[in-house]
Amino acid sequence: VVTVFEQLKAEGYLEGRRGAGTFVSERIPDDLQPRIEIKTTASIAARSVTPFAARPPRAFRVNEPALDHFPMDLWARIGSRRLHRASRLLLASGDPQGYRPLREAIAAHVATSRGVRCEADQVVVLSGTQQALDLLARIVLKPGDAVWMENPGYPGAFEAFRKAGARLVPVSVDGRGLNPADGARRDSRARLIYTTPAHQFPLGMALPLDRRLELLDSARRMKALVIEDDYDSEFRYRGRPLPALQGLDSGDTVVFLGSFNKALFPSLRIGYAVLPPNLVESFVELRFHVDRYTPQLDQAILCDFITEGHFTRHLRRMRALYESRLCALTEAAKRRLDGVISIPDIAAGLQTTAIFSKRTDTARVERASSILGLETLGLHRFCLERIGTSGLMLGFAAIDEAEIRRGVNALAQVFETLDRRRPT
Ligand SMILES: Cc1ncc(COP(=O)(O)O)c(C=O)c1O
Repeated sequence: VVTVFEQLKAEGYLEGRRGAGTFVSERIPDDLQPRIEIKTTASIAARSVTPFAARPPRAFRVNEPALDHFPMDLWARIGSRRLHRASRLLLASGDPQGYRPLREAIAAHVATSRGVRCEADQVVVLSGTQQALDLLARIVLKPGDAVWMENPGYPGAFEAFRKAGARLVPVSVDGRGLNPADGARRDSRARLIYTTPAHQFPLGMALPLDRRLELLDSARRMKALVIEDDYDSEFRYRGRPLPALQGLDSGDTVVFLGSFNKALFPSLRIGYAVLPPNLVESFVELRFHVDRYTPQLDQAILCDFITEGHFTRHLRRMRALYESRLCALTEAAKRRLDGVISIPDIAAGLQTTAIFSKRTDTARVERASSILGLETLGLHRFCLERIGTSGLMLGFAAIDEAEIRRGVNALAQVFETLDRRRPT
């Protein structure tokens, strides 16, 4: 009892008056505590966080691989072997640049598959492309600096550069990808250029060689750094991809970004940056101050998965699967949505655009689709500035062919309903 009284006095709930006894305080300390209002930021969260990811995939989930085809048993076996043999060193600490054997495996992989010219010393292992964009923005940009952005383009990059105070310059994407001449007309003093040359996000074309050389030329003239986001080139169904922009550059102009988060599974959170040598030190130092390093054990498991040949095998299987799903989508769309939408002849990726034949309010299509249990994203979400076409992003990798056909039928129903309501 004495201890309880002492404690309540110490916390201010009781006060002792000499000769009179112990009383409940006149002012209860709860009233003195400043009230911290927690503002709900629902609108911000709704805009920046994928709303669908927690549910099983439905037509037409974007940015998600076929997770039910991931070789979980194999991953578990490698993980268990690594855990049983984990040395003190693997548990104690990590290299902020990344687990050395994994960096070597990444350097070898990007050299053979993407024509990237690098040493393991230029590779930094990160939580993904998004972290690379954030760190690069902090290192390279000052508030007010201009950044050339593909329009339409990747909203994750828009946000990373906006948060660093940059001025985003929308550069038009025509039938041949990003147009550097348009960039130069809009702002000839950009500090950074963000681009997805292997497979433009979201429209899907590859940047041809003459444009690549023109882009590198513009970058050198402006002394700008180019960020080459190679987010999904592992999934190429036809032909060989053009080698990376990074491999065309003999100097310090290009940063190459890649990720395992879609090639394997999104919650893995491991990706990488291949940096020009002169950026490595400051980049790794900043990374250390932000979040130290990527979990070592996960890096070690991934490293074994790559070096034992499972990664290449998995990609080969997924390519065949996604190609047949893409085929199912284009065939179903031809049957049910001919004259309403057109799907470009894409050769890579986990998703495609579907362009509307008539200009249509994409937000209305999104709303009507969601009532029918579809996940659709309008192209307007990827625009910094209005573009001449309207359409949707349709993911096809995460769902099977039956769900793809159900989705196309439902989408046809959406357009029929909207057409009926359209004023004549
Ligand atoms: C074009 C593009 N770049 C980068 C990313 C992000 O990659 P990560 O998950 O590795 O951060 C995405 C993810 O959807 C993307 O679509």
